[in-house]
Amino acid sequence: MTLTLIFVILIACPLEFTGAKWTYNGPDGEHNWSSNYPFCGGAFQSPIDFQTQLLRYDPNLPPIQVQNYNLSTNEQLTLSNNGHSVQLSLPSHMYISSFPQRYSAAQLHFHWGSSNLLTGSEHTVNGKRFAGEMHIVHFNSDKYPNISMAVDKHDGLAVLGVFIEIGEFNPAFDKFFKYMNGIKYRDQKIQVAAFNIHALLPARLDEYYRYDGSLTTPPCYPSVLWTVFRRPVTISRKQFMALATALYASNAQESTTVPLHGNYRKPQIADNRVVLVSFKDGDFTWMSWGILATITVASVLGLLLIITLVWCLWRKGSNTEEQKEKTNGYKLAEKEENISKV
Ligand SMILES: *[C@@H]1O[C@H](CO)[C@@H](O)[C@H](O)[C@H]1NC(C)=O
Ligand SMILES: *[C@@H]1O[C@H](CO)[C@@H](O)[C@H](O)[C@H]1NC(C)=O
Ligand SMILES: *[C@@H]1O[C@H](CO)[C@@H](O)[C@H](O)[C@H]1NC(C)=O
Repeated sequence: MTLTLIFVILIACPLEFTGAKWTYNGPDGEHNWSSNYPFCGGAFQSPIDFQTQLLRYDPNLPPIQVQNYNLSTNEQLTLSNNGHSVQLSLPSHMYISSFPQRYSAAQLHFHWGSSNLLTGSEHTVNGKRFAGEMHIVHFNSDKYPNISMAVDKHDGLAVLGVFIEIGEFNPAFDKFFKYMNGIKYRDQKIQVAAFNIHALLPARLDEYYRYDGSLTTPPCYPSVLWTVFRRPVTISRKQFMALATALYASNAQESTTVPLHGNYRKPQIADNRVVLVSFKDGDFTWMSWGILATITVASVLGLLLIITLVWCLWRKGSNTEEQKEKTNGYKLAEKEENISKV
């Protein structure tokens, strides 16, 4: 009887419950995730640093196309604090249409820095970390009935990653950032009116990094086809501060409050992976300037060399002429002398 009960509890409990708790700091921090979540210590992990030497330009990568992202304000979305991030639920009629299979939306969430360390993106570009990063999570709905069934399959998920930079105020982000005080504590949820999710994306959907990776949080399944847009979106400093200071990783009943910030995982090893890019390398403009400068300097040097050579030859030529004249003159004088002798 007791055994049956234990068995039922073990089977019925969701992964979050049977799985150990995890954090970004302390003994349950990312260095130790793999002791309870073996995939976190495995292959194809995310995020990674997009280093120039990993990038391969692929002219066949099409611009990202999404459908039904402009949601009606009649729809309700669930905004929640899950203790690791702030998450907005998304309806599955939103989807990515530019992949061979349909990937339907499930949720979006964020990773960010803290109020004194403004950088907290997960992916980095040649070591540069942005202020934050948004992940719009989609699952392969052609193959799997829901995200729970897709989450651990190699072709299960597709995530759109968006870098966030501090700059201009972003009205689209304010559609839900303004409700942040309603979900200060872990496990709090509120309903918010839907809006145009497309407005959260950067303007250029044709420039992105593409690679095979994983969930960036436990259980770290290597199930994600990553698309990280090259161009960041901006939010104002005030908006960033609201995100970085409003939330707690602890629930309302806990006596000690734990702030929720700095919730990003460190870059993972690339192994044998390459990152395909849909655009010419970021250093390309810099490089073409370098090449241009080199060509200019080389041309000027070459021209100088030619001028010098021509000048030398001319000098040499006129010298021999002079010498010839001199010799001739001398010979002539000699001849005249000889003649006069005769
Ligand atoms: C890692 O996690 C395991 C299991 O939760 C725990 O026993 C161990 O003490 C942790 N190790 C470190 C270095 O914190
Ligand atoms: C989004 O849909 C609303 C109507 O629901 C419309 O008024 C608005 O112009 C649309 N926005 C864009 C960018 O298409
Ligand atoms: C997902 O689909 C599976 C298989 O159809 C089903 O058993 C499960 O209850 C579904 N899960 C959710 C969360 O809807």
